[in-house]
Amino acid sequence: MTIKIHEAASLHENTLSFIHRERHKLLIGGVWVEARSGETFEVFDPATGDLLGHAAAAGEEDVAMAVAAARAAFAPDSEWRRMTPQKRGELLWKVADLIEANARELAELDTLDNGKPYRNSLYGDVPQVVAHFRYYAGWTTKIEGSVPPVSVPNTLNYTRREPLGVCALIIPWNFPLLMAAWKLAPALACGNTAILKPAEQTPLAALRLGELMVEAGFPAGVVNILTGLGVPAGSALVDHPGVDKVSFTGSTEVGKLIMRNASNNLTKVSLELGGKSPNVVFKDADMGKAVKGALWAVFGNTGQMCTAGSRLFVERPVYEQVVEQLSEAAGGIRVGHGWDKSHIGPVVSQEQMERVLGYIDEGRSSGIEMHRGGGRLGERGYFVEPTIFSHDASGDDLRLIREEIFGPVVAVTPFDDWEEVVQRANHTEYGLAAGIWTSDLSKAHRLAEALQAGTVWVNAYNLFDAASPFGGYKSSGFGREMGKEAIDLYTQVKSVWVSY
Ligand code: NAI
Ligand code: MG
Repeated sequence: MTIKIHEAASLHENTLSFIHRERHKLLIGGVWVEARSGETFEVFDPATGDLLGHAAAAGEEDVAMAVAAARAAFAPDSEWRRMTPQKRGELLWKVADLIEANARELAELDTLDNGKPYRNSLYGDVPQVVAHFRYYAGWTTKIEGSVPPVSVPNTLNYTRREPLGVCALIIPWNFPLLMAAWKLAPALACGNTAILKPAEQTPLAALRLGELMVEAGFPAGVVNILTGLGVPAGSALVDHPGVDKVSFTGSTEVGKLIMRNASNNLTKVSLELGGKSPNVVFKDADMGKAVKGALWAVFGNTGQMCTAGSRLFVERPVYEQVVEQLSEAAGGIRVGHGWDKSHIGPVVSQEQMERVLGYIDEGRSSGIEMHRGGGRLGERGYFVEPTIFSHDASGDDLRLIREEIFGPVVAVTPFDDWEEVVQRANHTEYGLAAGIWTSDLSKAHRLAEALQAGTVWVNAYNLFDAASPFGGYKSSGFGREMGKEAIDLYTQVKSVWVSY
């Protein structure tokens, strides 16, 4: 076995000892075990292409065992079901404390696995993960029913909010640890048990998180972690009749498949899928802020954000200026290894790099203008140049403009009036997010209302907080994560009638 760690990384001793285990296991029923088949899959550092280790490849049998463990942990008389809401909150808070105490190690694992700059992992992702566990730790004691004012005489009707049961949480690779927190924290706060299926590209930090959750004291089987491929690990979870709910973040294609397969057992689903988000710059915007905002809206995290502001609409009088300034600013982006002082890292895998380069080539040959970028950087690792295209309304139906690229590629286009920008911005199957840059407050509110998107940012982009709901319109999915809305995702309402 040849585990190789990039020369520039100076890793914490805990990270080193984690990595040097070389063969990582599954967490099922509180015990770390190999896959029943003994199979593993390789984990790579996308900044070098080097091998980081082997993760257990869960199959149908492992899924069945994890579901059995999670069901047992959810049994009516189990320790978890008898646990008071206050104690549940304490456990979630303890996880947050442990994550904070191990922040460096977790951030290092996310950077090794995903390639993102270490600064982003440490100062961006990990603190948000901590905030999520704390936010939902506070919710455990606030999940209330109600007393509806029914008109039936001599009757009391009240509602209870109860957990759903076993929740399968299937997550992507762009924010490995944060996506785990977005789902685990509310699912557990509501009293469910969970089976987390990290993305096969980035399983490591989730495994370390699993160890911290065991250390925090969750009863065996409450949190299970199955690394593995989409098929069979993810698909077997979706198909298993013992799973009560599937919460998925990933591609729209797989989201549709999951919804179809979950219908066999009427397993509940919530889906957070792709995006092709419009970012609209009006001529009265603070141009410095707008250009910088538009730059990071799409190039942040190497464009691997479901909210990426990949369609940039600019009002005609400032169009040339914005394209020029954006190109110049993109030239200043340092693309590099997560351990160097880079702004953005590689894309996550060779497959993803090829996908992104494929879209860029298609843009080139479609005849629209390319202002910057357009290629791979270097020969080691999966680095792609920040790339800027521009086009007019006739390009709106190109694949490059319609489909989610999930890489550092933006398409800029001019617009002339309100009707045009509303129509074109909404001319997409997606509806995850949108940005608006203007100094005219009423225009901002009117456009925020007109845009079909689950999140709208005004004079900002990519702001997130555990307290604010997030999710999609149209083919970007349904269900809202974060905020009090996530409580709805992981509970069901029981109505109790009492005649007196
Ligand atoms: P994906 O949707 O295949 O993977 C996401 C998760 O779903 C992973 O954990 C994967 O193992 C699992 N999965 C895959 N097939 C499954 C199945 N049949 N049943 C159950 N689970 C399954 O995304 P992928 O292939 O990594 O990326 C492809 C494209 O998807 C990206 O280029 C991007 O456009 C989009 N994407 C969007 C994300 C978002 O946050 N909206 C996140 C990741 C990818
Ligand atoms: Mg896939």
